[in-house]
Amino acid sequence: MADNLQAEDQRTMRQINSFLPRQLGILISAFLAFMIFHHADAYDPLDPNGNVTIKWDVVSWTPDGYVAVVTMNNFQMYRHIMKPGWTLAWSWPKKEVIWSMVGAQTTQQGDCSKFKGNIPHCCEKTPTVVDLLPGVPYNQQIANCCKGGVVASWGQDPASAVSSFQVSVGLAGTSNKTVKLPRNFTLLGPGPGYTCGPAKIVPSTTFLSPDRRRKTQALMTWNVTCTYSQFIARKNPSCCVSFSSFYNETITPCPNCACGCQHNNKCIKSDSKLLSMVGVNTPRKDNTPLLQCTRHMCPIRVHWHVKLNYKDYWRVKVAITNFNYRLNYTLWTLVVQHPNLNNVTQVFSFDYKPLVPYQSINDTGMFYGMKFYNDLLMEAGPQGNIQSEILLQKDKNTFTLKQGWAFPRKVYFNGDECMLPPPDMYPFLPSSANAMDSFKFTTVATVLLSVLVAILLSE
Ligand SMILES: *[C@@H]1O[C@H](CO)[C@@H](O)[C@H](O)[C@H]1NC(C)=O
Ligand SMILES: *[C@@H]1O[C@H](CO)[C@@H](O)[C@H](O)[C@H]1NC(C)=O
Ligand SMILES: *[C@@H]1O[C@H](CO)[C@@H](O)[C@H](O)[C@H]1NC(C)=O
Ligand SMILES: *[C@@H]1O[C@H](CO)[C@@H](O)[C@H](O)[C@H]1NC(C)=O
Ligand SMILES: *[C@@H]1O[C@H](CO)[C@@H](O)[C@H](O)[C@H]1NC(C)=O
Ligand SMILES: *[C@@H]1O[C@H](CO)[C@@H](O)[C@H](O)[C@H]1NC(C)=O
Ligand SMILES: *[C@@H]1O[C@H](CO)[C@@H](O)[C@H](O)[C@H]1NC(C)=O
Ligand SMILES: *[C@@H]1O[C@H](CO)[C@@H](O)[C@H](O)[C@H]1NC(C)=O
Repeated sequence: MADNLQAEDQRTMRQINSFLPRQLGILISAFLAFMIFHHADAYDPLDPNGNVTIKWDVVSWTPDGYVAVVTMNNFQMYRHIMKPGWTLAWSWPKKEVIWSMVGAQTTQQGDCSKFKGNIPHCCEKTPTVVDLLPGVPYNQQIANCCKGGVVASWGQDPASAVSSFQVSVGLAGTSNKTVKLPRNFTLLGPGPGYTCGPAKIVPSTTFLSPDRRRKTQALMTWNVTCTYSQFIARKNPSCCVSFSSFYNETITPCPNCACGCQHNNKCIKSDSKLLSMVGVNTPRKDNTPLLQCTRHMCPIRVHWHVKLNYKDYWRVKVAITNFNYRLNYTLWTLVVQHPNLNNVTQVFSFDYKPLVPYQSINDTGMFYGMKFYNDLLMEAGPQGNIQSEILLQKDKNTFTLKQGWAFPRKVYFNGDECMLPPPDMYPFLPSSANAMDSFKFTTVATVLLSVLVAILLSE
């Protein structure tokens, strides 16, 4: 099916290229890119309360500092932290050092030459901390540590949406009056995109003993909140969407260069002999992708096919294809916004959860893989795709196959918004074809331009 789509992609692109005036294509692409990326502030309309919170609980004072348990909670509904995991850094306000850590480590020890006898774990002004890998000895572990920095999203698995370590700080304040909070927190998850606020003293955390009969309390607690912005994370989208339907044989491909074409010369053709070479599937330290050559140059394509129209129901097929030879996506998530998601009757072979960020509107939901069945989206190649079908009950007042209504309004893969085809490219009903043909493109351009201007003026 993927091959068919690929060939179809190219055929339709040729048709479209001859059909659409070039300038208009550029205008539309620019407009779409602007629509996706004008949220420069870290605010995700589909998950307005999503954040990563880093909480420091001081559990004891020591002669020259304190011991704190640091807990990172991922409160984002559908954005997890994938392999190779998080990296957390901060700056010490004074001359603090880290005597020891449990459940994590700093990547550099730094210059500890001042110390005799007892050598600290880290003497850097700005320590950079990473999680330990699973399987370290028990005496180096604490609860919720040692997962290689992988943290699930809150919507998918709240119990795994947490990561912890313990840090013993020296040359620091030794009471809640003298301690100075660490500053300038930065979080990589694993790439850029997160912005962290200042640490704030909050009411001390209370802990319940395992038998639930005794409560204890942290001596002092401070929180740091980090929010994600796709605009900061990357210049281009990292996924795109293509469409098809039973009522029109045209496949609407992903927009050309949807994810940027700078890496064009570095991609590998799907029939290349290079693919049999060793190393093609070896992940790089910096996670640079090795993409299969496509016109969209995206690592991920989501295909939405309107498959069947019954009397009271309609059926959609969704397929996700991986074009990155160097990455297996674990714990992937797909978020879709469509007005009919308030009436999902059945989802086949994916798990589904409605997201209701605003109590009044129920038009968004997240799909994710079933454990041990398809929660792993394999590297590019014959196995690099997963699919599902969705059965939706029609609301007779709103359901229509006209004007692209049956296609999603927004699609996110792993928490990043995917680029949709421009509205005038959607497969349309044969009966409305004439109407669309006579639709003047200058009108589209004018409307787009005025919307653009309106948005710019309103900011
Ligand atoms: C972080 O997320 C939690 C859970 O959604 C929310 O209660 C809290 O208000 C958020 N914090 C900030 C500073 O947005
Ligand atoms: C501090 O963070 C914890 C989670 O790590 C959260 O439960 C708590 O509500 C936060 N407190 C404040 C005041 O934001
Ligand atoms: C924190 O960052 C700001 C601006 O990036 C810088 O001026 C300040 O010196 C940093 N603070 C520490 C303690 O490193
Ligand atoms: C600091 O500790 C004292 C008791 O030692 C307590 O009364 C006070 O509320 C604490 N202040 C903060 C900010 O936690
Ligand atoms: C993806 O997973 C498969 C099976 O676990 C493994 O053989 C392959 O090497 C992995 N590929 C990458 C790029 O990590
Ligand atoms: C939202 O829609 C789903 C069906 O997709 C339904 O199960 C759920 O109860 C609805 N939630 C609300 C708050 O309306
Ligand atoms: C689903 O659709 C039916 C038929 O239109 C409607 O009666 C019902 O209220 C809808 N359910 C939701 C959760 O909107
Ligand atoms: C299918 O949709 C395309 C636009 O994507 C349109 O050009 C074509 O005419 C439609 N096909 C039919 C048979 O109406």
